[in-house]
Amino acid sequence: MKTVKSAAPSTDNRWRIVDAAMRRLGFQPHALIETLHVTQETFGFLDEDALRYIAATLGVPLSQVYGVATFYRAFTLKPKGAHHTCVVCTGTACHLKGLPEILAALEAELGLSPGGSTPDGKAALMTARCLASCGLAPAAVFDGKMVGNLTSATALKRIRQWVEHES
Ligand code: FES
Repeated sequence: MKTVKSAAPSTDNRWRIVDAAMRRLGFQPHALIETLHVTQETFGFLDEDALRYIAATLGVPLSQVYGVATFYRAFTLKPKGAHHTCVVCTGTACHLKGLPEILAALEAELGLSPGGSTPDGKAALMTARCLASCGLAPAAVFDGKMVGNLTSATALKRIRQWVEHES
């Protein structure tokens, strides 16, 4: 019988509810969406530790978990409220391949910093420690779509499109 493979992010008893759901679903990758629903219902939102735990336990790539969690409006990642979400990877490979310049450009051009939103609240910027796509560094997930070899220009263009086209 399969068991939970990795330790829960904290000793919070609410993780037992999530573990029970994953167990009921056989710890299979196809349990991802339902597990995310249960986690959100239990905690009220999804954060990086939760996504990492679910990815490790179900054997789903972290980039895919971020993709699903940011694609469906039903899921709420911190920070709340933004319609669009960009998750940039702050892992070593991405850092060395130019992430600091990208973050500086987002801050300077759009007033967007990690953990925050654009001044109009339409786009939020989050960080992940590693999206497990280091060969594509620097990498980010834009509303569920993994983008590799990211540049400042590409990141600015994608986020400007969200801000300008969102009514
Ligand atoms: S360090 Fe960025 S994807 Fe691994």
